[in-house]
Amino acid sequence: MRKSLMTAAVLLGVALLAAFASDGQALISLEKCTLCHGKPEFRKLLVNGAIRDVFVTGDSLKGSVHEKKVCTDCHFDVSEIPHRERPKRVTCTHCHFKGNKEGAPQSDNVLAYFESAHGKAIAAGNVKAPLCQDCHGDHQILKVKNAGSKVSRGKVAETCGRCHMEIYARFKTSIHGVALEKGIPEAPSCTGCHGEHRIYAHTDPKSTVYPTKVSEQCSKCHASVAIMSKYGIEAEQVATYKESFHGVANQFGSRTVANCSSCHGVHDIRPPEDPLSMVNARNIPATCGKASCHPGATANFAVGKIHVDPKKKEAGIIYWTATFFKYLTIGTMLALIVHIFLDMYGRTRRLRGEQGR
Ligand code: HEC
Ligand code: HEC
Ligand code: HEC
Ligand code: HEC
Ligand code: HEC
Ligand code: HEC
Ligand code: HEC
Ligand code: HEC
Repeated sequence: MRKSLMTAAVLLGVALLAAFASDGQALISLEKCTLCHGKPEFRKLLVNGAIRDVFVTGDSLKGSVHEKKVCTDCHFDVSEIPHRERPKRVTCTHCHFKGNKEGAPQSDNVLAYFESAHGKAIAAGNVKAPLCQDCHGDHQILKVKNAGSKVSRGKVAETCGRCHMEIYARFKTSIHGVALEKGIPEAPSCTGCHGEHRIYAHTDPKSTVYPTKVSEQCSKCHASVAIMSKYGIEAEQVATYKESFHGVANQFGSRTVANCSSCHGVHDIRPPEDPLSMVNARNIPATCGKASCHPGATANFAVGKIHVDPKKKEAGIIYWTATFFKYLTIGTMLALIVHIFLDMYGRTRRLRGEQGR
């Protein structure tokens, strides 16, 4: 039944076609496309037996940023009807290039896509990597500020997740994913850590999540008292990390020393009280004991706190040790100054004595 309808639709299109053939290469109007594509029953039978909707009408573009465009503005390779070949995928940079007269927004930021892991993968022939439309959508592209846009803060994780499924699943149940779902404005989505068009492989030094840059990403939010105090989280984690052995080595470019993610995880970060958190007391031996870090670490490996501010009494032995060394240093300096002072006093007295003779 369906197949016969489709055949009928195609036949109708072909029959009507003759009437328009004289238009030649001139602009093909919307009506000519919807002759065939405007029928809800117009479907395509794929080789694997699946059926694909190719139903598109003038309404498909309504409300989108491109609503004033006509079909062939994007499907510009459809220059005759019937189009014998399957049209190619749309090239958005046909309009979105710098200095275009269409008024299509374009920036260096967007162009960076071509240098990104995604753009390079496409150039290398990986059809699984995203073109512009795989993130932005096809006929219903909205302004990025519009909450309904596929790349809006609330929706972009789901858009990336269509391809990065496992990561998306882990992220959704993490503290950041849950916070994003709740609408917490400071929670990071995928693009908060990776960027949008400038996404590089994590092993590429240009990546925002290259091992020596991870702490910088976390610090954007976690070093801010203004943000963190809203959620009852201490903002000194960043400072205490930077002062620690791990932090100092990391700032000097060590890629193997622990960064925030080595201890907390990446897409599955959870509060320390959560039994599934990598920094939950029960999981610390496994986290610190990773083969590449401290093999054989036991439950006693990290007794006490990791993010310790030695200036606070709660730091226990570390506080007392730090305090002891602080006063030892001050005491030594004082003794040295007194020693120098007495020495100078003695010398001047001896000098005066010599001159007096
Ligand atoms: C005579 C009927 C007919 C008309 C008129 C027509 N098409 Fe098509 N179109 C088809 C058929 C049949 C297919 C499936 C072709 C295939 O995959 O081999 C198709 C496929 C397409 C596809 C690709 C669908 C996919 O699988 O991704 C696009 C895009 C498309 N048409 C755009 C247009 C545009 C734009 C116009 C107007 C300029 C137009 N078509 C006019 C019959 C028509
Ligand atoms: C803003 C650009 C743009 C405009 C304007 C546009 N399309 Fe598309 N269209 C796309 C994109 C992007 C796709 C997804 C396939 C691809 O990546 O090229 C698509 C897919 C299609 C398909 C395949 C079926 C589907 O829904 O995926 C058909 C058929 C089609 N378009 C027809 C039309 C018709 C008819 C018009 C005019 C009413 C039109 N298009 C206007 C960008 C556009
Ligand atoms: C991996 C997904 C992804 C791909 C691929 C992608 N974008 Fe984007 N794009 C985004 C996200 C996310 C934003 C939202 C940025 C924001 O929130 O400010 C965006 C924003 C934009 C904007 C508006 C803001 C600006 O910087 O001008 C334009 C225009 C745009 N993209 C065009 C494109 C074009 C053209 C391509 C292809 C060359 C493309 N995008 C490829 C995800 C993507
Ligand atoms: C025929 C030219 C043309 C083509 C092709 C085209 N665009 Fe656009 N696009 C425009 C124009 C013009 C605007 C500005 C509309 C406005 O501001 O009202 C725009 C706006 C946008 C915006 C909104 C940016 C913002 O301010 O938030 C996005 C996103 C976008 N286009 C993405 C795409 C994608 C993805 C494709 C490919 C599927 C594409 N465009 C193809 C002309 C085009
Ligand atoms: C809090 C910051 C953060 C957020 C949010 C985030 N990522 Fe990541 N992502 C990272 C870091 C850091 C790495 C590098 C991990 C490593 O070095 O092993 C990474 C690595 C990756 C990788 C490459 C490594 C792999 O495991 O395949 C992909 C792909 C990726 N992220 C996708 C996503 C997607 C999709 C989302 C959203 C659902 C997301 N990320 C959200 C920080 C983040
Ligand atoms: C259409 C599917 C698709 C979408 C949508 C998509 N990606 Fe990807 N992504 C890929 C593929 C495929 C690769 C592998 C490219 C390669 O082979 O180098 C990749 C690579 C990556 C990498 C580098 C992986 C590494 O080795 O470190 C990151 C990070 C990443 N994507 C993040 C994102 C984010 C964030 C979004 C959403 C804004 C997103 N992706 C949207 C398919 C997709
Ligand atoms: C864009 C801002 C932002 C970035 C980037 C960010 N976070 Fe967060 N993070 C938050 C917010 C906001 C919360 C609080 C969410 C809540 O309580 O609902 C949070 C919560 C947490 C928590 C749970 C704390 C607790 O006790 O509840 C941990 C642990 C954490 N983040 C670690 C990290 C690490 C590690 C990174 C870097 C890989 C990172 N975050 C990157 C904003 C951010
Ligand atoms: C060597 C492992 C390690 C490193 C590196 C590390 N953390 Fe932690 N982090 C922990 C442990 C363990 C806890 C659990 C509580 C404690 O001991 O302070 C924790 C707790 C936290 C908390 C929760 C505090 C609260 O108030 O609930 C946040 C937020 C946090 N870390 C962020 C970060 C950030 C941001 C970085 C990087 C700048 C980082 N951590 C680096 C091990 C680490």
